[in-house]
Amino acid sequence: MGVYEDITENFSKFFRDANEFGREISLKPFNYIFIAGMGASALPGDVVKVLKKDVPVETVRSYSLPKYANEESLVLVVSYSGNTEETLQMYNEALRKKCQIIAITSGGKLSQKCLSDSIPYIKIPSGIQPRASLPYLLVPILNLLNYDMQLDSLYAQIENSILKGKAKELAEKLQGKIPLIYSSIPPVSYRWKTQLNENAKIHTFANAFPELNHNEIEGFENLNGEYYAVFISDEGDIVRIKKRMQLTKEIIKEKGIDVTEIAMKGRNEFHRLMIEMYAGSLTSVYLAELNGTDPTQIDLIENFKKRL
Ligand code: PA5
Repeated sequence: MGVYEDITENFSKFFRDANEFGREISLKPFNYIFIAGMGASALPGDVVKVLKKDVPVETVRSYSLPKYANEESLVLVVSYSGNTEETLQMYNEALRKKCQIIAITSGGKLSQKCLSDSIPYIKIPSGIQPRASLPYLLVPILNLLNYDMQLDSLYAQIENSILKGKAKELAEKLQGKIPLIYSSIPPVSYRWKTQLNENAKIHTFANAFPELNHNEIEGFENLNGEYYAVFISDEGDIVRIKKRMQLTKEIIKEKGIDVTEIAMKGRNEFHRLMIEMYAGSLTSVYLAELNGTDPTQIDLIENFKKRL
């Protein structure tokens, strides 16, 4: 199975399977959460930061943890493959600093280190691409943190054929264009960008409100490419953000750029976030299909890692 099938057919099953992961581990008290990982394995950190409002959460995409990580920190070391050098280095540092560590991985060196250091780790299924494994990377963390995801009512939303149809239409509009993805929730636009990068293999801009009104908006003065904008709004957006989105849309349209709007409704913040992101994953694999690109292959990333 490749990324196309995993995103279009297996994604809700992945959420179902992941539902029990992480429940068996009890955490000691902590006052700060670091989520250490790279690429698709780091994204859960950004999502947790949006959802968990009672404790500071920081995603660390680097070789080292911040100086203030200490014995009272919970460090979730996430690497799908278990072989990512930056993440392994952060694991070593967390161990030296005596942080509370839990790892999430499908195997590799990280699982071996955890076994020899007696560090608990959550073993997720292997054989999937990290970017198609979001359910397996994220759900265990939210279970660990006792976050109630109400997953039962998410599956049908993922399987919704209208969502898929809209993503196909959007992929057609994006063909040959440089996507500009704008949302009020930074990890949502970022997930779209990375999915379009890795699956459709195209460059994409991603930004969030209100920040983009303070810099990126100036880029519309001297257009140097064929752009297509996607605005993703969320039920939780405050009035001023709604106004910023509306105005930005008007300005962009005046510059001759077409816009698709995705307005996410619903009471459950976690579900909205997942569907906003999933729409990006679907669009990216449909665009890959239209472009005759295999979304599973990531030759440049793999070759780069080898050359390093
Ligand atoms: O989507 C991908 O394949 C990448 O972004 C990887 O997640 C990234 O290179 C890190 O690898 P891993 O997730 O195995 O730690």
